[in-house]
Amino acid sequence: MKIAIIGSGYVGLVSGACFADFGHDVTCVDKDPRKIAALNEGRIPIYEPGLDALVASNVRWGRLTFTTEIGPAVREADAVFIAVGTPSRRGDGFADMTYVFGAARDIARNLAGYTVVVTKSTVPVGTGDEVERIIREANPEAEVDVVSNPEFLREGAAIEDFKRPDRIVIGLDDPRADAVMREIYRPLYLNQAPILVTGRRTAELTKYAGNAFLATKITFINEIADLCEQVGADVQEVARGIGLDNRIGRKFLHAGPGYGGSCFPKDTLALVKTAQDAGSPVRLVETVVAVNDQRKRAMARKVITACGGSVRGKRIAVLGLTFKPNTDDMRDAPSLSIITGLQDAGATVTAYDPEGIEQARPLLADVDYAADAYACAEGAHAVVIVTEWNAFRALDLERMGALMAARVMVDLRNVYGPEEATRYGFRYLGVGRRR
Ligand code: UGA
Repeated sequence: MKIAIIGSGYVGLVSGACFADFGHDVTCVDKDPRKIAALNEGRIPIYEPGLDALVASNVRWGRLTFTTEIGPAVREADAVFIAVGTPSRRGDGFADMTYVFGAARDIARNLAGYTVVVTKSTVPVGTGDEVERIIREANPEAEVDVVSNPEFLREGAAIEDFKRPDRIVIGLDDPRADAVMREIYRPLYLNQAPILVTGRRTAELTKYAGNAFLATKITFINEIADLCEQVGADVQEVARGIGLDNRIGRKFLHAGPGYGGSCFPKDTLALVKTAQDAGSPVRLVETVVAVNDQRKRAMARKVITACGGSVRGKRIAVLGLTFKPNTDDMRDAPSLSIITGLQDAGATVTAYDPEGIEQARPLLADVDYAADAYACAEGAHAVVIVTEWNAFRALDLERMGALMAARVMVDLRNVYGPEEATRYGFRYLGVGRRR
């Protein structure tokens, strides 16, 4: 199959590299000439484990190319995937569809022969209808079907998720498009990934419903964690105790500083807006959004409490800036609210992150960046673990404590436990655990 992918961001690049690896002939298109130049020189603009090697080998085999020219890529393609961004629109929280509709217009002008146009970006219900309308208006002769094929990969595990998905969801109405989509995903039959073929609107909503459910699960366990702290229970054990019930499941029950990233915050908000618009509000998700926002801010107060009620004039060491490990993504990262909250309360912040410092710099003012976890802890009155990078899982706590002005640890990911930390003389505050 010949595939064109419009947008070489996270989803576009990973999908492109994986489709090429399946044996398809893939052209990734992006309007940003610097990005395309970098990719053509073998530089990957994002940090994702394994992606550089996957891109390099598929480029070498001639199955993966990068270009700013949409025309030839679309003309030759059997399927064109739209994988551009759908950020939150400033002011109202709706998904901003400017890039998706722009891509649809660019595609329409260049279609030749039967082509399946696939929205892979996370898009509100009804977007497929609008994409189809735009294409048919711009090019009434076009022989085209518009399909929804949401992507469920996670950052940091993107290639594995793409190649071994729990399921593939395809929303379409036409048997010809069905045959093309099945051919594209045929290599995954070997991995026995179930393919769910649904109506287009159903596929679009499935993506939002999935992310909203996961965000709800996290928010639920976070509130249970707060309760655990008040009543002297341990949230890790509660999570295990409920998670072993197959109806609940063990995943996504790690209490922490609140969910962040490029997907959950914007997708939950977009679902809330879509539902309000449709006159069928999703009140549970509205609450999840509000509770999660408050939680990120509350985490700074937790640090202040651990420091005896004030951080004024104190140095706080923050370990981990990205919204989760194995990414350099800082979008809606809890570290942003936590650090700003600590600075507002008069603290000086030193931070370290294995991959996120360059992305963090423009987002945070007056932060000192350290070269590693120990340099970060030097002279600090407390160390706060915000992201559970592997590099923070086996710290030499004796060495770290000796460098600090006071041995206080706020462990927002429960990497350590009260026993271990107190053994090294730390005052320890985790999430949802007995003090
Ligand atoms: C999420 C979904 O997991 C993917 O299935 C989906 O494709 C993607 O959004 C998307 O819509 O593009 P991602 O944002 O990469 O993926 O990251 P997750 O691993 O889901 O983590 C999201 C946030 O939840 C992080 O801040 C993480 O720390 C937090 N989290 C996750 C918890 O606090 N506790 C958990 O138990 C799990």
